[in-house]
Amino acid sequence: MDSTLISNSPEETFHLGKRLGQKLKGGEVICLYGELGAGKTVFAKGLGKGLGVKEEITSPTFTLIQEYSSGVNSGLKLIHMDLYRLQYPEEAETIGVFDYFQEDCVCLMEWPELIADSIPAERLEITIVGSGDLPREISLKSN
Ligand SMILES: Nc1ncnc2c1ncn2[C@@H]1O[C@H](COP(=O)(O)OP(=O)(O)O)[C@@H](O)[C@H]1O
Ligand SMILES: [Mg+2]
Repeated sequence: MDSTLISNSPEETFHLGKRLGQKLKGGEVICLYGELGAGKTVFAKGLGKGLGVKEEITSPTFTLIQEYSSGVNSGLKLIHMDLYRLQYPEEAETIGVFDYFQEDCVCLMEWPELIADSIPAERLEITIVGSGDLPREISLKSN
């Protein structure tokens, strides 16, 4: 179900994330592509909401990996990664990125291109194009 949508506001991007989050069951690997300020974290916040996460999803820039439990399905976790500050690809292994590719985790990655060769082939790719107050083009592609 590949598709391209237009989002005219942060709220619309949040809502798209929320709708996707409501469909997730666990085991999904979701790659979020887009420049700084494209809206990846806005989308992640919506996705968390849709998954039933009670806490506020914040940008995991300093920790790189943030773990949340889904309020809807207690065994399910949302793993929000922001690999922007990864120094070198091998660091991903050290910080445990690959330990989260499991059935009880939804893995949402910002800046996945930094570990491009190590991402599971079966994944959902979301690309957000646009910046500032301009509308965003959001495309979804499942592999
Ligand atoms: N249509 C839109 N979708 C998402 N964010 C938007 C949109 N229009 C404006 N923005 C703004 O762009 C910024 C996106 O920030 P953020 O989600 O942190 O980006 P990223 O995580 O991709 O670096 C926010 O300040 C948000 O309010
Ligand atoms: Mg971000």
